[in-house]
Parts: sequence; C-alpha cells; structure tokens
Amino acid sequence: MKPVKVGLCGLGTVGAGTLNVLKRNAEEISRRAGRQIIIDMVSIRRPRTDIDLTGIRTTSDIMAIANDPEIDIVVELIGGYDTAHELVMQAIANGKHVVTANKALIAVHGNEIFAAAQEKNVMVAFEASVAGGIPIIKAIREGLTANTIQWLAGIINGTGNFILTEMREKGRDFADVLAEAQALGYAEADPTFDVEGIDAAHKLTILGSLAFGIPLQFEKTFTEGISKIAPEDVTYAEALGYTIKHLGVARRNEQGVELRVHPTLIPSKCLLASVNGVKNAVMVQGDAVGPTLYYGAGAGAEPTASAVVADIVDVARTLTSDPTNRVPHLAFQPDHLSDLPVLDVAAVETAYYLRMQVVEKPGVLAQITSIFSKAGISIEALLQKEHGVDNAPVILLTKRVREGVMNEAIAAIESLEDVMGPVTRLRVEQLDLG
Ligand code: HSE
Repeated sequence: MKPVKVGLCGLGTVGAGTLNVLKRNAEEISRRAGRQIIIDMVSIRRPRTDIDLTGIRTTSDIMAIANDPEIDIVVELIGGYDTAHELVMQAIANGKHVVTANKALIAVHGNEIFAAAQEKNVMVAFEASVAGGIPIIKAIREGLTANTIQWLAGIINGTGNFILTEMREKGRDFADVLAEAQALGYAEADPTFDVEGIDAAHKLTILGSLAFGIPLQFEKTFTEGISKIAPEDVTYAEALGYTIKHLGVARRNEQGVELRVHPTLIPSKCLLASVNGVKNAVMVQGDAVGPTLYYGAGAGAEPTASAVVADIVDVARTLTSDPTNRVPHLAFQPDHLSDLPVLDVAAVETAYYLRMQVVEKPGVLAQITSIFSKAGISIEALLQKEHGVDNAPVILLTKRVREGVMNEAIAAIESLEDVMGPVTRLRVEQLDLG
C-alpha cells in the first residue's frame, strides 16, 4: 500500500520525540499500520544540526505544510491558540487529516474544528492532548463505549503533580521545583497554565465532552490552581488521612454536568493518592464496568510522541475506510450531542477541609459550630494543634454540602470577631462519587 506522508509542524520537545519514535520503531509501526509512515516535511524556525533530517523537506513556513499537495496528515505540535488554529483550519480546508497534541486548541476551538472536519470528511485526532502517553481518549471513546459514564477524576497536569509531590516528600520550594519541571520540558510555555489549573481545565473540558457527549465548554469549567496551597495544609491533610492532589473532576447528576479542577483532599489509601511526580492518572466510573484506572507519563517527549504516533496510525488506517463508520470526534455522533447544562460550582456538592486561625478563648469553637449547625452542615473531624499564646489554628473536615451553602457559612465564620483572616477551603472527595 502507498506510504502515508506526514507533515510535522513544530520540532520542539514533542516534535523531536515523534521523529525519534517513528524512526526507531518504523518497522514495528508499519507492521501495525499496514503501510509505511513517512515524515515528508518538517517546519523549523532555524536550521537544526542536532536532529537528523536527512530525506525530509524542511520549511520555515508552516502554512506550506498545510498547503502541500503531497501531505496526507498534518501534525500540529506548535501549541497555542492562534497560529495553530489557522494552521489546522487551513489543513482541513485542504482536505488533510490532522493530528494535534494541543489541548488549548481543542478545548477552546474544538467545536468549530470538528464541524469543519466533519464537513470535509477528514479526521482530527487529539490523543496526545490529554494525559500525555496514556491512551485515555481511546479508552473513553472506544473501550468504554458500552457504558453510561457516571464520573471521572484525574491527575491531568504532570507539572502540578511533580510540584506537589516534591513539596510533600522533600520539602522543596515551589519555585525551585517549577524551574526543574520547565527544564525537563514538562511545563507549558506559560507555566501559570500549569500551576493555576488552566492546562488541567483544558484537558478536563475534553474528557468531560467525551464522557457525556456534550459540546466543548472550556469557559464553564471551574478552575482553581495549586499556588495557594500552604505547607501546613499538606501536613494537616496527612494527619487526617488525606493527600492533597490537583484533580480534574467531571460528574453527571440529575441537574447536569460538573466540570471542575481544584486542589482536592483524597484518602491517602486510594490509588490516585500514590500517583506521584510527573505521572498522570485518570479514574473513570462506568455503569457496566465499574471503576477503572489509567496511569502513565502525562508529559515528556516520547510519552507524548507515543500518543501522537498512535493517532497517525489510526488516521492512516481510516484512509481506506468508510468515513461514516469512523469513531466520532467527541465519542458521540455530532448530531446527537446532549444539551445537559454544565453546572455552576455553587450547585456542586463535596465535603470540605477548612483551616482558620482563631483567638484562643472559651466559646469560639461553639460560635463556629453553631454557624454550621444553622446551615445544616455536619462536621466529620476537627483538629486543633500548635496553640500560640493567644491564638490557635482550627482544622475541620465537613460532610458533603452544596458549595453555595458552604460559601455562606464561610462568609459568616469570617465575619466573627474571633476568627482571624480568611478561611482556607479545600474540597474533599472520597472518589466514590456515586
Ligand atoms: N504542561 C503539561 C503538564 C504538559 O505538565 O502536564 C502535558 O500536557
């Protein structure tokens, strides 16, 4: 069969990894794909002597790849929203299939991109956009296709997980660990995307759409980062039997869909709590299969290249198949997407960890518990440690309650004269979200 010709746009960490993997495993890959896969053209911003580009056409104009008649599949690895968006739309307009690792692009422009691809009968594959080398998109879209998916929860930002792990295990400084993650090529060009949860929110938006068959709605995904986690919260959480992880949670209930990214206390004995370093993991609960767990490298050159190459092979296989029988981009047929609303976070129900500093005198705890009692919030555990001369920290775990109710209770607590400063609030999940 005729070889498939690929144009690679972007020769950074993942691009170089893709070249390496395709070269090293060329024979194995073509045995699987049923035809040879050739990198025919690569875009580079400056001459590269560090990578062997023998036999590959190079260009500094990425649009030349989208417009080249020889190219069957355009692989977009430049990242960002603007040029990548233009490139992908141009490739689709020219009838080319696209493979991308760009979660921001899919989360923000995916609905438009998939509609254009549908019109032109081309595929846009994006396995590498979520959880690096873990084939989570394939698992949800194909492996779990028999299930009604009830919820999923994942550690989907390697940099954030690396930072939290190093801080917890080695007491390292936040900025120092972040610099290492950048040097290792894990972090986004703008690392606030990692630490403020934007990168994870892009990925969760994609997973939520695949799980529930809803259009991509990044703007409705609740996002909170890890930059405000204090070392004492890590310690108190551990004392209570929990580990703090930065989770993306997508859950369906009677009212709609929850899409939320935030630091979360999870029981230290659960599997996700042991996912450390740059590793990612996603738990998916389906009604037929029950809980499932997918684990692996969430970032890095070759793990991400593993997903890119898998997509290239998938696209290569479909070149000779009937377009109407392809796996739909968002797992469900485009004319059967659901209009289930994405819920405001105030309607979401979780348990809570609260930390506050209070004046050390009789009756303060009673005032706090009275606020909870009036709001109908049950307390699960209470810690009071390291008393100062005239003040002390109070740490509380509550039972599940709607976020809107908790917001009001926190505001009432913060207005008490004997409560000093703001209340730190973290959400708690037992990962049996029902
Ligand atoms: N910055 C991302 C992460 C890269 O750390 O997970 C992979 O998407």
